[in-house]
Amino acid sequence: MKAARIHRHGDPSVIQIDDVPIPVPGPGEVLVKVAATSFNPTEIAVRRGILGPMDLPYTLGWDVAGTANGEPVFGWLDGGAAADYVVAPRSRLVSPPSSIPLVTAAAIPLAGLTAWQAVIPNVAKGQRVFINGAGGGIGGFAVQLAKYVGAHVIATASPRSHETIRRYGADEIVDYTTGARLDDPVDVMIHLVGTPPPWIPPVGTIISAAAPVAAPPGVPSSHMVTQYDTGQLTSLAQLIDAGELVVDAVTHPLDDIAEVHRRGEAGDIRGKITITAAGDTLRLRG
Ligand SMILES: NC(=O)c1ccc[n+]([C@@H]2O[C@H](COP(=O)([O-])OP(=O)(O)OC[C@H]3O[C@@H](n4cnc5c(N)ncnc54)[C@H](OP(=O)(O)O)[C@@H]3O)[C@@H](O)[C@H]2O)c1
Repeated sequence: MKAARIHRHGDPSVIQIDDVPIPVPGPGEVLVKVAATSFNPTEIAVRRGILGPMDLPYTLGWDVAGTANGEPVFGWLDGGAAADYVVAPRSRLVSPPSSIPLVTAAAIPLAGLTAWQAVIPNVAKGQRVFINGAGGGIGGFAVQLAKYVGAHVIATASPRSHETIRRYGADEIVDYTTGARLDDPVDVMIHLVGTPPPWIPPVGTIISAAAPVAAPPGVPSSHMVTQYDTGQLTSLAQLIDAGELVVDAVTHPLDDIAEVHRRGEAGDIRGKITITAAGDTLRLRG
């Protein structure tokens, strides 16, 4: 089978598509025939070795959607899903939404769960929420979840993301490329950008999933690290099947993964990208 692996840490050129044996599941594990994984910018840090040493060669791919024992499954793994097959603990896999293609479901786990954990415990109906970085993979889910709970959503996005963010329900958009800023107060700020915000509106609470935010005196500020939660992932799938959330993703074949990493490092990606296994690529290409 094909697997996108790194044999050493470094720039995107260290990613290579290798021929490797199909893995064998151990106790409590299943073999997943991968439909797709997705690109998450945190995997750039994995590739570079910034998250610490790891066993090499390492197969990329945290998000997975595919089939196990003939049943559709999806989830978030510790890597390995940028391949035709991956072995996964059965307990980490849940049923994907049935209303969207399995390949698209691979866009959901890490980005959707991060948005869920930023928004659902912290945002209430009628509150004003400022989402900084709405054009990203997490931001798209965060805008929709904040609208789902009944918040007034103000989002930063550059022009390439305006139409999408409006379609997700954002009430106001601040174009961060123009130097425009928000001076009206908000209840909650959710920061989803890898660099600190250049400005902070008058705010009640700050939650960052990305770069640390230097909060004004007296403003509670926290940094969250996404925890895997199969119950929340199932809830996301149910909201999607109920038509409350949409999932948009551009799909690339596994052969493109190094190029996707290059584009990710260059800031040339908006929203989610799914990466299909080689088997599915052949099928997609007819
Ligand atoms: N804490 C955790 O556990 C955790 C988990 C997952 C991810 N993360 C981190 O969360 C961050 C977001 O992840 P992601 O997957 O959503 O990233 P992403 O998809 O790569 O986000 C890219 C988007 O960021 C937007 N952006 C770039 N610079 C911006 C700026 N100065 N102001 C506002 N928006 C800007 C762009 O929006 P436009 O298209 O509008 O230009 C772009 O589309 C990353 O730093 C990631 O490492 C943390």
